[in-house]
Amino acid sequence: MKEKLIEAARRARENAYAPYSKFPVGAAILTESGRIFAGANVENGAFPLTRCAEQIAVGAMVTAGERRIAEVVVYTGASPPATPCGACRQVLAEFAGPETPVTCVNDRGEKRRYTLGELLPEAFSLSSATKT
Ligand code: THU
Repeated sequence: MKEKLIEAARRARENAYAPYSKFPVGAAILTESGRIFAGANVENGAFPLTRCAEQIAVGAMVTAGERRIAEVVVYTGASPPATPCGACRQVLAEFAGPETPVTCVNDRGEKRRYTLGELLPEAFSLSSATKT
């Protein structure tokens, strides 16, 4: 399954729209129900409107009616493999627990494996934030 997830992220990256940064990213999510959703970064000439690959993948997952992330792969050309940005960590945390594996890979075959909790300790949670 891991190889299938990596392949989905690799293929998504091929479709990245990254003419400004020239930093294409692919992300793939495995849901608890066993489905795979992929995303690529989509940049915009109005730079702050750029969307990260992970957020596009989460959008595809939610659009398909899925809610729970079992595993994530992020595929870049960086060495060491780039980790998800802070905003993406929080977006993933909405649908994944701290033990969820996040594997960062690159086109040289290098891999770095984290848990979401390692990448985003003490994630913001609205329910805990609104407790009095
Ligand atoms: N990017 C992602 O797609 N995911 C991340 O977690 C970090 C950054 C994209 C955004 C932008 O298109 C490019 O990488 C350079 O920042």
